[in-house]
Amino acid sequence: MKLKDKRVLLTGATGGIGRALSLALVEAGCHLILVGREQAKLDQLIDDLPHSSNYLSIAADIGCAEGIKAVDKECQLYIQEGIPIDIVINNAGCNTFDYLTQRTLTSIEQEIAVNISAPMQLTKLSLTWLSYPGIILNIGSTFAAIGYPGYATYCATKAALHRFSEAMQRELKDTGRQVLFVAPRATDTDLNDQRVTALNKKLGNSTDSPKAVAKQILKTLQTEQKVCWIGWPEKLFVRINQLFPSLVASSIHKQKKHLNKSLSDINE
Ligand SMILES: NC(=O)c1ccc[n+]([C@@H]2O[C@H](COP(=O)([O-])OP(=O)(O)OC[C@H]3O[C@@H](n4cnc5c(N)ncnc54)[C@H](OP(=O)(O)O)[C@@H]3O)[C@@H](O)[C@H]2O)c1
Repeated sequence: MKLKDKRVLLTGATGGIGRALSLALVEAGCHLILVGREQAKLDQLIDDLPHSSNYLSIAADIGCAEGIKAVDKECQLYIQEGIPIDIVINNAGCNTFDYLTQRTLTSIEQEIAVNISAPMQLTKLSLTWLSYPGIILNIGSTFAAIGYPGYATYCATKAALHRFSEAMQRELKDTGRQVLFVAPRATDTDLNDQRVTALNKKLGNSTDSPKAVAKQILKTLQTEQKVCWIGWPEKLFVRINQLFPSLVASSIHKQKKHLNKSLSDINE
């Protein structure tokens, strides 16, 4: 899709990838509807962005039904006012790095709500107002394809988002709308606390800058590539895990002592 003058609804706009992506989209000539939880953070983001574009913002917690409805209502109003929306990027996400035994039920529920329920519901609702042609792009993770200890719930939500995107891509084929999926690997944002950053360093995992991830997301929109796994060797591991999961399991098992140290899980 040619991005110049397209209007993009972006969730998680105030986060690490969201901020970098906002700038990259503006540089490509897009106009933005920025979604985040706090109006003050959204206002600050708009202040920081170039003034060449025009911005709308919606403050809503999309981890609950009221927030989803609020976003939908605002978008319907924009359409009535003659502001078309061409692209929806479901980027908001959250996770907690811990073994499942240590997780609270509330934190599991929240992760499911933000990472999978919200993009599914926003996809459904956006199909009533999204332009033709229109793109919905869902932000996944390498962990959509690789089950990793300490991230069981996160892996499950991102795997579900991957399948959802694939099914919707097929459901919408030849309708003028499509659903794309981009899976970043570890990225330098506040999503990862110090333990995760230290663990990635220890294990020699590469970490991308949000700017590099934003560049890949833009490329995916421009080329309309259905699925993009970011990073090498991560995209190879994704394939190996599909074909020979025991190989990946044994390599992850060797990392277990570092994982246990990071999580200080006395039950292990
Ligand atoms: N960082 C990584 O290593 C990595 C790797 C692979 C995939 N990803 C994915 O990339 C996406 C962006 O993550 P990030 O790294 O930029 O994380 P981040 O810096 O923590 O930003 C997360 C964004 O999601 C928003 N958000 C969280 N819960 C929300 C809720 N209930 N309602 C509305 N917004 C909510 C946050 O809003 P507030 O500003 O209001 O908190 C924030 O804007 C996520 O889907 C994540 O899973 C990240």
